[in-house]
Amino acid sequence: MSETTRHPFLEGLSKHRGSPATILVIFGASGDLTARKLIPAVFNLGLDNLLPTEFRLVGFGRKPVENGEFRKSAREALEEFSRRPLDEQLWRNLEKRFCYHAGSYDDPKAFAELAKLIAGLQKEADREMQLVFYISTPPNVFETIIENLGSSGLAAHTVGGKGGAKVIIEKPFGKDLDSARRLNRVIARNFREDQVYRIDHYLGKETVQNLLVARFANAIFEPVWNRQYVDCVQITVAEEVGVGSRGGYYDQSGALRDMIQNHTMQLLSLIAMEPPVSLSPESIRDEKVKVLKGVRPLNLSADESGDVVRARYAEGLVKGRRVPGYMQEENIPADSATETYAAMRLEINNWRWQGVPFYLRSGKRMARRVSEIAIQFKQPPGNLFSNSKQFDLAPNTLVIQVQPDEGMTLLANSKIPGLETRTQPVKMHFRYATTFGSNTPEAYERLILDAMVGDSTLFIRGDETEASWKLITPILEDWRECGERGLVDYAAGSWGPLEAERLLWQRNHVWRRPGV
Ligand code: BG6
Repeated sequence: MSETTRHPFLEGLSKHRGSPATILVIFGASGDLTARKLIPAVFNLGLDNLLPTEFRLVGFGRKPVENGEFRKSAREALEEFSRRPLDEQLWRNLEKRFCYHAGSYDDPKAFAELAKLIAGLQKEADREMQLVFYISTPPNVFETIIENLGSSGLAAHTVGGKGGAKVIIEKPFGKDLDSARRLNRVIARNFREDQVYRIDHYLGKETVQNLLVARFANAIFEPVWNRQYVDCVQITVAEEVGVGSRGGYYDQSGALRDMIQNHTMQLLSLIAMEPPVSLSPESIRDEKVKVLKGVRPLNLSADESGDVVRARYAEGLVKGRRVPGYMQEENIPADSATETYAAMRLEINNWRWQGVPFYLRSGKRMARRVSEIAIQFKQPPGNLFSNSKQFDLAPNTLVIQVQPDEGMTLLANSKIPGLETRTQPVKMHFRYATTFGSNTPEAYERLILDAMVGDSTLFIRGDETEASWKLITPILEDWRECGERGLVDYAAGSWGPLEAERLLWQRNHVWRRPGV
């Protein structure tokens, strides 16, 4: 096979999802995310023939770096982080399209020069190309970059007389409701909402995208997806890793901002939303935002009645290895009161969910890396099989395993084969790896492609991010006032503090052991 037939993106548009000619500008080009996720995502899109015929990548960063050096580090990133091995032919074709532009994010001249560079690239390609700006810098320069994109005229770039610029914004999108609103205002001054793609990489995960398909392309789930049948919903996003070298960032953030406000809330909206009227981005996002707006205000009291628990990891054993506590990690101030674990109980005030508790938790240094959503159903009425000695019964539970070992499991009760009637809970499994093979695309591949194509379904709308901050900000304010009061410890390698069990016991529930 010749070089070009193997990678026809160099010849023509993808057969599947054609993206227009694109210049992708990455701000924060020498950062960690660019190396680990963005460059590998672009390369894997190339492997799948999903890049447009005319594609250019401009790395924008503060450090002065030669084009050759930028390409070399991109290649090293691919060798280390790409899910598929480096393909020499594709790389040779791709690297020619990579260049680097050094400049300061607050220097209007650097943006004027970027505009010139872009004009040159279009001239070289002999066509107008859309501009996709990916802001992957620390959040303190988000607003400056957006303002400079506006004042340099780049935000108003056109292709064929129509809007031809988009901006992708990494998390964290603000640190509370006020800062998120301010950032939204800065964006709105410079871009229209349909040009804006706010990232939450959980939405790019296959299993998360499958939530809509599982719920709305099957007839059997929807009739029982409500307060009549569902006893509780448990969402767990657990990590084995600690804060590692990110202590400086993490101590300013904590589990609530880092994981709950975004990733966990997104899982909640998708699992609880009403069926959208269509698959258009706005219909889906309209329904998601209604869920967040419907959450009943939380009881923040630190006593038994409270809906929220926070904790931080103490020294412990993770997979048999002794690991330090949070306070012993690098760059953690001695007076830190930052949580590495947060759990909450909430209710959604609508006809479908009134009275059903949703339990959410996320933490670092927990027993296993596992993200799952468990829908626990009510027991059958007037149970015929109520003699607990003879009948081992568990509530029916649909477990959607987001990662790892992606799949779905339905727990049901079954008769144990034999001459007497005894029962046992059993599992019905669907596993992505067995059904579809294990090499599924990374979230960032899907998200970069969607932004290039112009599909904003898997991105967060401005009002959605504000609705989520509206829920989270009172908790943050309360915790700030309380300092260390109410902050408890859990041993690294455990499933979190005992206090988080209380949230469930009060309603006769227990946390599931995830992954089981
Ligand atoms: C990021 C958080 O958004 O998500 C990190 O900032 C966290 O602290 C990461 O480790 C988890 O992502 P994933 O895809 O590994 O579950």
